Amino acid sequence: MVCTGRVYAVGTGEHRGRPPRRQADARRHYPDWLDRAVFYQVYPPSFRDHNGDGIGDIPGIIQSLDYLQWLGIDALWLNPCFVSPFRDGGYDVADYYRIAPRYGTNRDLYRLCREAHRRQIRVCLDLVAGHTSTDHPWFKASCQPRRNKYSDRYIWASSGPNAEAGMPLSFVRGHAERDGSYVANFFYFQPALNYGFAKPTQSWQQPIDAPGPLETRRELVKIMLYWLGHGVDGFRVDMASSLVKMDPGHRETIELWRDIGQRVRAMFPDMALIAEWGNPEESIAAGFDIDFMFHFGVGGYPDLMLNDDCFFRRHGGGKIRAFLEPYLEQAAKTNHKGLISIPSANHDIKRPCADGRTAKDLKVIFTFLLTWPGVPFIYYGDEIGMRYVSGLASKEGGYGRTGTRTPMQWDDGPNAGFSDAAKDQLYLPLDPHRNRPDVQKQASDASSLLNHVRGLIALRRRSPALQAIGTLMPLQVNDNDRHFAYMRQSGNERFLIVLNPSAEPCLVRLNGIRPAGTSPQICHGAQARVEGDGVQIRMAGVSYGVFKV
Ligand code: GLC
Ligand code: CA
Repeated sequence: MVCTGRVYAVGTGEHRGRPPRRQADARRHYPDWLDRAVFYQVYPPSFRDHNGDGIGDIPGIIQSLDYLQWLGIDALWLNPCFVSPFRDGGYDVADYYRIAPRYGTNRDLYRLCREAHRRQIRVCLDLVAGHTSTDHPWFKASCQPRRNKYSDRYIWASSGPNAEAGMPLSFVRGHAERDGSYVANFFYFQPALNYGFAKPTQSWQQPIDAPGPLETRRELVKIMLYWLGHGVDGFRVDMASSLVKMDPGHRETIELWRDIGQRVRAMFPDMALIAEWGNPEESIAAGFDIDFMFHFGVGGYPDLMLNDDCFFRRHGGGKIRAFLEPYLEQAAKTNHKGLISIPSANHDIKRPCADGRTAKDLKVIFTFLLTWPGVPFIYYGDEIGMRYVSGLASKEGGYGRTGTRTPMQWDDGPNAGFSDAAKDQLYLPLDPHRNRPDVQKQASDASSLLNHVRGLIALRRRSPALQAIGTLMPLQVNDNDRHFAYMRQSGNERFLIVLNPSAEPCLVRLNGIRPAGTSPQICHGAQARVEGDGVQIRMAGVSYGVFKV
């Protein structure tokens, strides 16, 4: 297989030799530190248990900061760690102002921020903005038949005939003595907070500027300021597009987030706002700094990572185009204004180490993730190739997601170093595999996946071309190719990245590109030879190469 070296410049509009324009760009609104940031997502109950009760906790995260600093990450995203009945892993909040006792205290979280900052690591929390738990005192008050301060905090449909007819919303009836039904966002015990309707058509639907919705909005800002005031650096916002109901094109939701972002940034300009939206064009317009390409939304991600015929498969895999086209479209629409993240996985989807993939395949995947524009997010344990554990009983509303949330594997001691508790007390069972990977083993093995990921992070850190807004130039993508080559550039610094996730070897011929030397920065199974005015790269099956050019 051969591909020629025609290049398409995509990205900052910066071309060979021209200095980066980003400083002068008024459209750019995200904080500078995101340019080089690599995030690490921690699922708190599964990361490290400090007090031996079998559940991961905040002191356990503090204890792991040296590891995270060694790995080279810049920021953490913690899944929800607030008081909750945990019927959906904490995405059912019962008190936004208090850390769940099983994870520690508010003081532990403040200490986590201080200790992380000492190591140049920022801390972002998960903000469940769209709904609470039915256990939240606001909701309990809202359920009362007598009008009170919280009657309009949630969305209640009247009990009249046809009140719910044809509405694209989920209604729950019969929960309380209050007449009517409430709108649920995800599971039935997650009542939707009331931010109003874009165009109310029924008397029970309130406009976005009615007193109830405005009060909900004020409360959300208050929650954000509270945690930022205690040292937190930003938020990943859960179901961020869901706030205003029946909102075509999310127009009013976009306005609402702009308003919230402005108010909060007035006091904390360096805050990072990360959306779970799945549509960068919309979320970046809403003032978010980062949005994900995902298992839902604008598409592309499943064709890259998840589908049976996705690009990163040894056998039967597809072409990069199915991912690249939606990506380039979103990148063009959000250029300069905000950043797109392609995560290794998250708590809602299968880990990349599933369906027959091994550490070798993951090395190709991480070479891509850490040399791609935007902001990489590493899901805890993916850096050592932790497996998706199938067949587990559902835990806390996890269902099929449970196998992606098993305890972190630190060493080959009891409970893989995750906890001192008895095995049957652990939050979730460990991966039962005899040769399950662990941090300790891989840290001392220069050829491990962990050291590969660490090496890539270090290279990214010292190379602006590989960071968030270095120009991306996908090289000509032919329909028959199972490999993919692209360049990244900033100023005079240029890299060529070549990936072959398939089991078949291939030959990549690129005209007009000359590696500075034929020895790559990071590589496995890729041999380059200068040929005329170009380069020829012989790629083994499942191989990658990162060259300076
Ligand atoms: C988001 C979370 C998911 C949760 C849902 C409801 O998609 O990532 O884990 O169940 O929202 O809050
Ligand atoms: Ca614990």
